[in-house]
Amino acid sequence: MTGEHYFTAEPTTAANPREVEFSVAGRDYTLASSAGVFSAARLDPGTAVLLRKAELPSAETTGALLDLGCGFGPITCVLASSAPSATVWAVDVNERARELTAANAARVGAADRVRVATPDDVPADLTLAEIWSNPPIHVGKDELHGILLRWLPRLAPDGVAWLVVARYLGGDSLQRWLVEQGWQVGRHASQKGYRVLRVTR
Ligand SMILES: C[S@@+](CC[C@H](N)C(=O)[O-])C[C@H]1O[C@@H](n2cnc3c(N)ncnc32)[C@H](O)[C@@H]1O
Repeated sequence: MTGEHYFTAEPTTAANPREVEFSVAGRDYTLASSAGVFSAARLDPGTAVLLRKAELPSAETTGALLDLGCGFGPITCVLASSAPSATVWAVDVNERARELTAANAARVGAADRVRVATPDDVPADLTLAEIWSNPPIHVGKDELHGILLRWLPRLAPDGVAWLVVARYLGGDSLQRWLVEQGWQVGRHASQKGYRVLRVTR
């Protein structure tokens, strides 16, 4: 153990490559993962609730979708597979997470529609049709709020953000804070201690 966080920029932990298998909306995924990224050994239960309960984009969906904090890319791969006419921006501060997401986008045949980037590499004028995130709670409340204040204003007027947060990690207080910031926030679903929040203007 090196004590590195999953949101370390350049993990030094040995990669220890592995695969993570899961199914969403009747489709099976086998994605590459490795040490040094969030939930490397299995699809995170919160991410699983998000992908099961939120309204996945469809063949009709166009425009740019953002996977905010992509990790090894499970949300990116599901979005890209569900919405073949959309572009998915996969953003993470962790270099290994970005590498894995790029490899996994290729695995699901979506390399040409997935843009893997650091937060600073996303074009400033890009408008987002949807934001999807299992956000990094462990960075601390102030930083989490800063991340959300950075990306939510980039939603299109009719855009929607889907967030999953464990109740014990502050899902309900995050909902209240978003409302205080002027966002419309619905508790779309609640399962296994996770809140799925639907955020709109
Ligand atoms: C809870 S994990 C979710 C990972 C992945 N989406 C999943 O569901 O398995 C949150 C991710 O956010 C990333 N992260 C931390 N700070 C960030 C920031 N400022 N901007 C973008 N991503 C960040 C972390 O590196 C981590 O991969």
